[in-house]
Amino acid sequence: MKIPDSIIPAPLRKPAKPGASGAKGQAPSDLKTSPPQRPSDAQRLGDRAKETPADVLAWVDQRTGATGFLTGMLYRKVPKGTNWFYTLGSATLFAFIVQATTGVFLAMFYTPSTTQAYASIAHINNDVPLGAFVHGMHKWGSSVMVILIFLHMGRTFFFGAYKYPRELNWVIGVVLLILTMTMAFTGYLLPFDQRSFWASVVGININGTGPIVGPYLSDFLRAGPELGATTLSRFYAIHMLLLPGAIIALIGAHLYLVVKLGTTAPPWVRGEKPKVAAPVSRLDAGANGAPGNGASPTS
Ligand code: HEM
Repeated sequence: MKIPDSIIPAPLRKPAKPGASGAKGQAPSDLKTSPPQRPSDAQRLGDRAKETPADVLAWVDQRTGATGFLTGMLYRKVPKGTNWFYTLGSATLFAFIVQATTGVFLAMFYTPSTTQAYASIAHINNDVPLGAFVHGMHKWGSSVMVILIFLHMGRTFFFGAYKYPRELNWVIGVVLLILTMTMAFTGYLLPFDQRSFWASVVGININGTGPIVGPYLSDFLRAGPELGATTLSRFYAIHMLLLPGAIIALIGAHLYLVVKLGTTAPPWVRGEKPKVAAPVSRLDAGANGAPGNGASPTS
């Protein structure tokens, strides 16, 4: 793909052939027959304006080193056999971004109070322009994200991507899975209707049956002797402050490791033999497949 000249800084542009007329910054072949024309102010202003995008990018780049980062990120090698299953991680990321965006708009109209929560959701659905649409996206999007994260986990498991050196990324993934499930659980209570109330009672009680930490966990979630106003406030804070922050930080670490380590080739793609020099001991014994050269019996 040809990069437009306007975004390439002038010093980096390919110089035109000497003498080519009309070439940028080059003198015409015969100055006598075609004397140079002084550009008008408007022309110079236009030329300057064309440089602006490159100037702005160069200004930012000098101060951030973004080019190096983006080059490493966008031009990294992907293994042979990469296929559609490798898009599941990005699909999960997209689902999270949709959840975060629609969540911000819902938070503008939602009231986390036991007496007003239900009415505020009804208001979003019935009165706010596009409210039912945004609420619907958030509600269905939560299931979409849970399904996608499981599919992505399945892909990484069946392709053996949890093995060395990606164990840490798997562990981060497991934490992301738990946080995503907790996101879905805490969000379910927020409409505060009969279904969400009783589902949360059941969920909190199930947590309470866990060994050792179970009772502490259910006490922490309930935030009081009965599910009520304090529970709703706690779920809301966890749902819209604690978990999104933790998820964003962990996705950052997860993607950093993906870029640093690269992705795993599918198990059916056979690895190429590494092109390394033969050990000195083998060279001493003789070269290039001569009998007794110490080549391994399997090779
Ligand atoms: C919010 C949740 C998550 C997001 C946004 C996310 C995103 C991504 C992305 C974009 C990739 C690049 C390759 C690909 O898409 O397959 C990736 C790779 C990976 N993810 Fe996730 N992921 C999430 C959750 C998980 C979970 C739950 C696990 C496992 C428990 C996991 C384990 C891995 C591993 C091991 C890799 C490396 C894959 C390879 O080397 O081929 N991720 N993730």
